[in-house]
Amino acid sequence: AALLGDIYRNQLGGDASNGGLTRAMQLACQRLEGAFTLLAVHADQPDVVVAARRNSPLVVGLGDGENFLGSDVSGFIDYTRRAVELGQDQIVTITADSVEITDFYGAPAEGKEYHVDWDPASAEKGGFPSFMEKEIHDQPDAVRQTLLGRSDIHGKLTLDELRVDPELLKHVNKIIVLACGTSAYAGQVAKYAIEHWCRIPTEVELSHEFRYRDPIVDENTLIVSISQSGETMDTLMAVRYAKEQGAKTVSICNTNGSTIPRESDAVLYTHAGPEIAVASTKAFLAQITAAYLLGLYLAQLRGNKFQGEIKDILADLGKIPAKVQRILDNEAQIKELGQSMADAKSVLFLGRHVGFPVAMEGALKLKELAYIHAEGFAAGELKHGPIALIEEGQPVFVVVPSPRGRDSLHAKVVSNIQEVRARGAKTIVIAEEGDEAVKAYAEHVFYIPETPTLLAPLLATVPLQIFALALASAKGYDVDQPRNLAKSVTVE
Ligand code: AGP
Repeated sequence: AALLGDIYRNQLGGDASNGGLTRAMQLACQRLEGAFTLLAVHADQPDVVVAARRNSPLVVGLGDGENFLGSDVSGFIDYTRRAVELGQDQIVTITADSVEITDFYGAPAEGKEYHVDWDPASAEKGGFPSFMEKEIHDQPDAVRQTLLGRSDIHGKLTLDELRVDPELLKHVNKIIVLACGTSAYAGQVAKYAIEHWCRIPTEVELSHEFRYRDPIVDENTLIVSISQSGETMDTLMAVRYAKEQGAKTVSICNTNGSTIPRESDAVLYTHAGPEIAVASTKAFLAQITAAYLLGLYLAQLRGNKFQGEIKDILADLGKIPAKVQRILDNEAQIKELGQSMADAKSVLFLGRHVGFPVAMEGALKLKELAYIHAEGFAAGELKHGPIALIEEGQPVFVVVPSPRGRDSLHAKVVSNIQEVRARGAKTIVIAEEGDEAVKAYAEHVFYIPETPTLLAPLLATVPLQIFALALASAKGYDVDQPRNLAKSVTVE
C-alpha cells in the first residue's frame, strides 16, 4: 500500500484523471515478487476499484450495473453467476459498468467469461449443523454430477472438454499424479485403477516433494494434478516445474477458473459444488470419480479396454450415488460410535490395496477434525513395526475388501484383524454387506453395499468421515474451521 501510494503521489503526481490508480498499480506490480492478490481504491476515484494477482486467487463477477471482485466466486454468486477468470500477472480495473484488464505493463488483456453453475443455496448449510455434515451428505450428488454428461448411451466416454490431442495421450508412457493431503489420497486410490485399466506406470507424488527429487519427466509424461481449490501453491509450483520439463498437464479440480486448471494444458472439473468446510469430503469422492473417468478415457483411447468393459465399469460407477446414500441413511450407528469415543487419544486405521489410501484418509479426517493422533497403515506393514503400537483397548479401524473374487485380499486382512485383536485392540471393521467372517473378530462392524473392489473406496471412506465428524462434534470442536488449518494452502 505504501509503495502504491508513493507511486501514485510522487511518480504520477496524484493525477487520477488518466487512470492514475491503474497506472500506479501497474508500476507497483512490476516491482513486486512472490504471490499476491492486491486491491486498491482511492478517494480521488471513489467509483473505481483496481486489483492485481500473481499466483493467488482473484475472480471478477459481472453484474447488471455493478461488478464484483473476489478470491472465489462464492463471494458474489448471490448477485451474479457471470464470472471472469483472470490470468497470471494481470490487473483489472472495475467500475459499476466497466471491466478493463491489462498486464502489469499496461497491455490490454482478455479475461475468460464463464457461468458459475453453483446455486447460492448450495453454498449454505442446507439445514445441516455444519458445512462439514452438509458436504458429507452432498456426496451422492457430487459423484452423480461429476459423472453427468461424460459418456454416451453406448458407454463411450466423451471427455471433449479435455481438449488434449488424443494422439498425444496414446503415447503417454508414464503418469505422475501431483497433489497434497486428501487430494493425494484420491490420487493413490486412482493409481490402482489407472494402472489396472490402462497399463501405464502411475506414480503419485506429494507436490511439495516432487520437484526437489530431480524427477524423470519428459514429453511422454502425463501430469495429473488433483486439487479441490486449484490454488494449492505446492501443487501449482509442481505443475509448473513439470511443464518446464515438457510434460502435458491435466488438472482435476473443483473450482472453476482457479489458477492450477488455468495453468494446465487441460482440466477435468469435478462437479462437487462449493466445498466450504476445511476438511475435504465430497471433493475426495468427486476426485476419485473424475480420475476414474480419465483412466477409462485413456483405456478407451489406447484400446486397453473393450467398449463393453468400459460400459460395465461406468454402470457400476453410476450405482455409487445410491450406495453412498444408503450408507448415509444408516449413519446413526457409526455416529454413535464416534460420539462414544470422544476421549480416544489415538486411533489406527488399516487397509490393503485401495483400502490403504482409504485408511490414510480416515486417519487424516480424524487428525484434522478431532486433533488426536491417528495413523493409517498398509495392513501388511503391521508386522514390520506398527504392531508394537497395539495394546489393550487400542482402537483400530480396518477397511476390509470384498470376500468375492479370486484375487480378494479378504483372508489376509481378516488375518490382520486377528493379529491386532489378539493383542488387545478394539477392532472396528468396515466390511461389505454379507461378510459374516469378520464378525468374530470385530467389536463393531459397519457394512457398506457390495461394489467392485476398485470402486469400494467411494463407499468405505464415508463411515470414516462420519466417525471423525461425530467424534470431533462430541468434543465441541469447530468442524468447519479446524484450528491451524486453511481451506486452501496458498503458500509453499
Ligand atoms: C483435506 O481435508 C485437507 N483440507 C487438505 O489435506 C487438502 O486436501 C490439501 O491441502 C489439498 O488441497 P487442494 O485439494 O485444494 O489442493
